[in-house]
Amino acid sequence: MSVNVLFVCLGNICRSPTAHGIFQQRVETAGLSTLINVDSAGTGDWHIGKGPDARAAAAAARRGYDLSALRARQVSAEDFAQFDYVLAMDRDNLRNLSLIKPEDYSGRLDLFLHFGPYAEVDEVPDPYFGGEEGFEYVLDLVEAASDGLLKDIVARHRL
Ligand code: 4NP
Repeated sequence: MSVNVLFVCLGNICRSPTAHGIFQQRVETAGLSTLINVDSAGTGDWHIGKGPDARAAAAAARRGYDLSALRARQVSAEDFAQFDYVLAMDRDNLRNLSLIKPEDYSGRLDLFLHFGPYAEVDEVPDPYFGGEEGFEYVLDLVEAASDGLLKDIVARHRL
């Protein structure tokens, strides 16, 4: 049985593709890519079919992550049937996901940063309307939470 992880933000062009690419790399490095599937989606529909934001892709590439193959899609209620972890970047995303979550969902719908090491920050701020430093901050937060998430999955699912 594989473990399926879905990262969700608003547009699926900045934060969740960044999480997708970074966590995928962590999974591959750990030799777990046949056991852990990774995907990302947005609550909004504006960017469906588009690749990641150029600023997010460039910032990720500077740290060695290739986001170029990713394409934006919109999250749907059907995703809850497939994904064991549905991880939101901020409370707004989490609220919108809660509205479409089937009542019998038995997986984990949560804020992604609840797997991170920071007690005082639990949201990945939207970098879309800001400057370069916002994209670097997204990378810092996502790298830290990805390590925590992988540890949690490995322990919980005895991988
Ligand atoms: P994301 O960033 O949710 O991290 O992908 C955004 C991308 C696009 C928009 C907002 C946030 N937008 O308003 O188009």
